[in-house]
Amino acid sequence: MTLRQNPYSIKRFHNDDVAPPGDYASDPGAFIPTEAFDAARREISAWPGYEPTPLLALNGLAEALGIGSLHLNYEAPRFGLGSFMALGGAYAVALYLRSRIREATGNDADTQSLLSGTYAGTTGNITVCSATDGNHGRSVAWGAQMFGCRCVIYVPHHTSQGRIDAIAAFGAEVIRHHANYDDTVRQCAAVAAENGWTVISDTSYDGYTQIPLDVMSGYTVLAAELLEQLPTGERPSHVFVQGGVGGFASGVIAPLWHHWGKDRPRFVFINPDNAAAMLRSAEAGNRVAIEGDLETVMACLSCGELSLLAWKLLARTIDDTIAIPDEAATDTMRTLADGVNGDAPVVAGESGCAGVAGLIAAINDDGDAKEILGLDADSRVLCICTEGATDPALYAEIVGRTPEQVMA
Ligand SMILES: Cc1ncc(COP(=O)(O)O)c(C=O)c1O
Repeated sequence: MTLRQNPYSIKRFHNDDVAPPGDYASDPGAFIPTEAFDAARREISAWPGYEPTPLLALNGLAEALGIGSLHLNYEAPRFGLGSFMALGGAYAVALYLRSRIREATGNDADTQSLLSGTYAGTTGNITVCSATDGNHGRSVAWGAQMFGCRCVIYVPHHTSQGRIDAIAAFGAEVIRHHANYDDTVRQCAAVAAENGWTVISDTSYDGYTQIPLDVMSGYTVLAAELLEQLPTGERPSHVFVQGGVGGFASGVIAPLWHHWGKDRPRFVFINPDNAAAMLRSAEAGNRVAIEGDLETVMACLSCGELSLLAWKLLARTIDDTIAIPDEAATDTMRTLADGVNGDAPVVAGESGCAGVAGLIAAINDDGDAKEILGLDADSRVLCICTEGATDPALYAEIVGRTPEQVMA
């Protein structure tokens, strides 16, 4: 079966300023410390319901694309929350509550004492808050509920009711702010300052870096798991990572960069066309804030400004950045749902599929992206499906079948 996706015109930028291979250890200030990878794995693997997410081999799609292999890390089952983000926000909440317990009691709370409410007298008086398009807020709300503190979540104007309900299900108060994501981040920070709440954000800015670093450290667990699951001897030539503020890409790239050293793969970053903060920043060589409605079906990638820390890492590690139109994502959702050449169907959300959408768009590009990115029969590509159908109604509208029908 050939791939039924039309060519797209994609925008792309190649970065000549990437750090030399193997540079990880010599530039630690810009990277997540390696000890943080193990600390996050120890903590998160002790949470109830922990299981590594699967790494799928999409041989049929690889064949249709004319590449050597395609592996897809599938994050939909993550802790039953639907996305990789379960790893980050909840982890930062755990670390933050630990630090407050230490201040209040002098004790180092372990995971079990946090889960069992030993320190409920301290944690019950703490409010964490965050601005989110959906998945990060779900993770923070889940962590707050699991570890026993209050939670307020701000969402921007475009967030669907399905996503709001999913956050509220974890006991958080959800407030819709009638503005875009970046304004919502600012509003959340202002209200938190007035009320003495603590912002658990996945994006960092001047003077606010520790918590977002904890969030990114949580994401590294995904990379550690996938390294264990790759077939022996399989070393990807390309890794496609989608991005909004860039925390996800950073959390994945840091451990892979460290692991493969001089044999590292080529890292390709995917932005939506209408929210291409990374593309614009890569072109400018600076962290550029973009304006506008940033409207895209890839709602979780709708961000106008990269995280300060993420930019420091991505500026030196991303080889190529591409921006794809919304149809690339919606077509790819349908392609993955159908399965190509005998591949099992995959339920991938609008932002979740963006890595694979970027790969397909680069290969089907009506320009020279395939050649410039060096995608050919020898390419071994790794993508991450960062979410399943986190908004099932929207998924069914786009794919024409519910997630359950696709899986049946
Ligand atoms: C499903 C999904 N994929 C990718 C991303 C991108 O992560 P980041 O904003 O850290 O780049 C997000 C962010 O919300 C997301 O929810």
